[in-house]
Amino acid sequence: MSNEKRLAGEAAIRYVEEGGIVGVGTGSTVAFFIDALADLKDRIQGAVSSSEQSTAQLKRLGIPVLDLNATGPLSIYVDGADECDPYKRLIKGGGAALTREKIIAAASAKFVCIIDSSKRVELLGKFPLPIEVIPMARSLVGREIVKRGGNPVWRDGVVTDNGNWVIDVHGWQIADPVALEKELNQIPGIVTVGLFAQRPADVVLIGDREM
Ligand code: A5P
Repeated sequence: MSNEKRLAGEAAIRYVEEGGIVGVGTGSTVAFFIDALADLKDRIQGAVSSSEQSTAQLKRLGIPVLDLNATGPLSIYVDGADECDPYKRLIKGGGAALTREKIIAAASAKFVCIIDSSKRVELLGKFPLPIEVIPMARSLVGREIVKRGGNPVWRDGVVTDNGNWVIDVHGWQIADPVALEKELNQIPGIVTVGLFAQRPADVVLIGDREM
C-alpha cells in the first residue's frame, strides 16, 4: 500500500501549475507529495498547509508556507482520504486535520485526492467518521449521534491543531453522505464533520491511475 501511496503522491505533481500556490493536505500519502513538491520549490510561490505536521515538513524542505487569508482562492488542493466512494465523496479526518482540510478544499478550484486502493469503497462508513467538536459539547454531540444510530467514541488524548477534540462515529453505513453532512452541521458544538460530500474531490488518483 505504501508503494501506491508514493505513486499517488508523485502523480499529483502533474496537476501543479508553474508559478502557482498549492494547497497541501495531511497524512502519509501527502508526505510523499510534499517530498516530490520539494523538487519544484523554485517553480512555485509556495503552499497553504492544512496542519502543523505538513507545515513542519514543508518548511524543512524549504517550501514557503503561506497564509490562506493572504493568498485568496487556490487553483489546486492535494490531499489524501480515509475512504472514497464512486462519486469521489470522502471520509477524512483520520489524522485529526479535517477542519483545516475542509477549509482549503472549499477555497480551491480543483481538489486532487490521492489514495491507495484500500481506501476505495462502495458505501462510506466502515472507517469510523471523524467529527471535530468544541470540548464542552462532546457529550451533547455524542447523545445526538446515538439518537441517529451511531456509536460515538471519543479519541481520548487527541487535541486538534485548533484546540478541539475528535469523536469517531462507528456503525454508520452512509447511504446519503450529502444529507448526513448537512444534518450534522446543524448540531451545536460540531466544528467539522469528516464527510467531504457537499464538496467532493474533483480528481481521485489511486496510485498513479485516475479513478
Ligand atoms: C487527515 O486528517 C486525514 O484526512 C488524511 O487525509 C487521511 O487520514 C489520509 O491519511 P493517509 O494518507 O496517511 O492514509
